[in-house]
Amino acid sequence: MRSEEVRALLIVARIRNLTCEISGLLIHDHGRFWQYLEGPKWTVEQVFSSIERDYRHTNITIVESGEATARQFPDFEMGELDIATLPEDNPLRADFDALFGGGSHEAKFASAQRLTDHFSGV
Ligand SMILES: Cc1cc2nc3c(=O)[nH]c(=O)nc-3n(C[C@H](O)[C@H](O)[C@H](O)COP(=O)(O)O)c2cc1C
Repeated sequence: MRSEEVRALLIVARIRNLTCEISGLLIHDHGRFWQYLEGPKWTVEQVFSSIERDYRHTNITIVESGEATARQFPDFEMGELDIATLPEDNPLRADFDALFGGGSHEAKFASAQRLTDHFSGV
């Protein structure tokens, strides 16, 4: 997807997420997406099933799902990071690539953590 298509997608997604009490992150790079969704279980399921049906992408993998006692990103209707906007030597580029590689679940989890820390300002 081109960046203007991602921008259009985010406008619709953020409005619906606000209505559905969903917050989260969308990190992307040249048509690859990593997304974190949080909110009431049934609305997350509803929105996720729309995303699954969306013709604009294929090959969805759920890395992890579960229950949480508090939100990590209550202020983001859908925070966005376009990896292509980062400097070439930013280590988050390698972390993003690692999410799509053949590494262990633990290594991917650590990469995901560093990417989400970017939003928490850690
Ligand atoms: C990578 C990707 C992420 C998306 N994330 C969201 C999202 O967080 N919330 C949302 O409402 N729609 C999101 N969408 C759009 C949905 O797939 C869908 O178009 C939209 O929710 C409208 O739902 P409907 O087609 O069932 O009416 C995303 C689409 C893509 C391709």
